[in-house]
Amino acid sequence: MVRVVSVMGIKRIGMLTGGGDCPGLNCAIRGAVYKAISEGIECVGLTEGWKGLLECSTMPLKLEDVECIMNKGGTILGTSRTNPYKKEKGPEKCLESFKELKLDALIAMGGEDTLGVATRLYEENNFPVIGVPKTMDNDLSATDYTFGFDTSTTHAIDAAESLLDTGRSHRRIMVLEVMGRHAGWVALYTGLASGADWIMLPEENCDMQKMCEQLKIAHARKKTALVIVSEGATIPCDNPEKEQCDEFGHKILKSKCVGEEVAKIIEKNTGIETRVAVIGHIQRGGPPTLFDRMLGLRVGHKATELAIEGKFGYMVALRGTDVIPVKLREATGKLRTVDESWIKFMHDFFK
Ligand code: F6P
Repeated sequence: MVRVVSVMGIKRIGMLTGGGDCPGLNCAIRGAVYKAISEGIECVGLTEGWKGLLECSTMPLKLEDVECIMNKGGTILGTSRTNPYKKEKGPEKCLESFKELKLDALIAMGGEDTLGVATRLYEENNFPVIGVPKTMDNDLSATDYTFGFDTSTTHAIDAAESLLDTGRSHRRIMVLEVMGRHAGWVALYTGLASGADWIMLPEENCDMQKMCEQLKIAHARKKTALVIVSEGATIPCDNPEKEQCDEFGHKILKSKCVGEEVAKIIEKNTGIETRVAVIGHIQRGGPPTLFDRMLGLRVGHKATELAIEGKFGYMVALRGTDVIPVKLREATGKLRTVDESWIKFMHDFFK
């Protein structure tokens, strides 16, 4: 039964999605809105991340706006990498807009950057914010998984398997560069799940000579070999382009093309024809997988529940099979990267 006013007096919740989009965001929005409707709370969408709050730019989030979005990739709210702390009087403007829009709580859906802003706003201004973790990179601390990762990695596995088909026909070594920024989770899971012969991660200094030797052995056996390279992996580069950073100070990795460099080194050192493919933003689109749909729906729903309880400064995390509140600070303090035990495990599959 729909109640007219919520238990704690929350009447209007704002929602935003910031940073790179990913599949599952619309499910999270739907989860949050449906819970709000059940409690008689109104929702309003802020468009394009923190930019929407800075500029008081909104869109309606009623039942009819969210009921048919479970299978839609991207975010109906739009997104941006706007950082209020890089704008003149940005945080003050956020507080003013919040008041002007008559909001009682804000649900911020994002990764390290978006939730980093939420953490500061909460800690410095007691801003009533709840975080929802999203990122295809799966690099947020305090949660076992973020939605977006499963779908994006599934796309990358499909790409890897297609490359193996053509590689086998032409007796080539194939290199696939995947996203993931400074964490290697996407490359690690793509490589292990597609049976790759080598995986290059940002977390490990790759022994290029050893890799080439290994690829020659695999190629002799299978008439092809596959290498998955994380976009954040590093190799000595002859012609480094000038690095650009976004508003959160992260290197914009599009200018680097590490996969291409890796392919050149492999071809030179093995004498085997090598081709490279970069999956890029294709990874981030399309309908979410079952896992991402359910995770998105659950964490969105829980975020509204936390707002009703007045549990601000928290993020919804997945721990095992439970969705639980964790402090935003715990989630944004440190990036979750691939650790030694995973790297050791990974090397057992290079034969
Ligand atoms: O953080 C998600 C992500 O997809 C990274 O894996 C990638 O490096 C980055 O976003 C790309 O950002 P943009 O969409 O701004 O090019």
